[in-house]
Amino acid sequence: LEVPEFEHLRYEVEDGIALVTLARPKALNALSGEVLRELAEVVEVIHQDPEVRAVIFTGEGKAFVAGADISEIAALSDVFVSREYSLLGQEVMNAVAALPVPTIAAINGYALGGGLELALACDLRVASVKAKLGLPEVGLGLIPGFGGTQRLPRLIGQGRALDLILTGRHVSAEEALQLGLVNRVAEDALEAAKDLARTILKNGPVALALAKEAVARGADVPLAEALEIEADLFGLACSTQDMREGTRAFLEKRAPEFKGE
Ligand code: HXC
Repeated sequence: LEVPEFEHLRYEVEDGIALVTLARPKALNALSGEVLRELAEVVEVIHQDPEVRAVIFTGEGKAFVAGADISEIAALSDVFVSREYSLLGQEVMNAVAALPVPTIAAINGYALGGGLELALACDLRVASVKAKLGLPEVGLGLIPGFGGTQRLPRLIGQGRALDLILTGRHVSAEEALQLGLVNRVAEDALEAAKDLARTILKNGPVALALAKEAVARGADVPLAEALEIEADLFGLACSTQDMREGTRAFLEKRAPEFKGE
């Protein structure tokens, strides 16, 4: 598998866990067009790498990602060009959300604007005690444009999302935990994210992918249809070797050895 050279991010895979580190520290890892392109590329690499069983996104230095690059946004004015810019960012976040393996944002510091939108495209969020999260776009005369107005209310509810979107305020990791915006708070977000990934990876790999698919597809359709999706995927899970192994191991009082098939 050919992994391209990246200028603004690092990509490593260890024990099935891919680690993507946004590394453009002079701009607090802000998502320039160049960074977005590299992010899209690394997600494509992950899609094609059968060794990857979980993904962690994090940032170098004191920020996770401080947003889209404001110097590039400042140059936008044409309605159609700006709309395309939003769609391009949304596409990258959609590609992250569409990864079939569990994804975790290890929020080591500032996760603002486009940075929080990247974290929202992940399945789970682990924040460091020092992290600050928010959608400050309205303070710039903008609105969130990489999915934030849609993924945030779906995650934490409209009222709480509008509090963050309309004030633009930064919330602490502790408040983010209370809001349900993050799943865990830890001294070291990356270590905690790795622990969480290892816990997840003890489970059946096919079941993980099917569970993620059921939640994602069900979120966009009426309940009756969503329940059919669940039943279809449950049926599929029961046809796997992993299910045979998992249930047999329980009955034989031993740990399962999943093969991911
Ligand atoms: C470009 C950025 C940046 C950003 C920080 N920098 N955030 N450059 N885009 N989003 C740069 C600063 O200009 C500065 O460059 C360097 O990074 C360090 O930042 P400081 O501000 O000096 O650091 P500090 O005082 O510690 O403050 C940290 C901060 C602040 C609170 C995170 O940087 C900040 O408020 N940043 C902007 C956050 C934001 O508004 N994000 C939303 C962007 S809009 P120099 O060269 O001076 O050292 C967005 C829209 C997405 O994301 C959707 C679009 C469709």
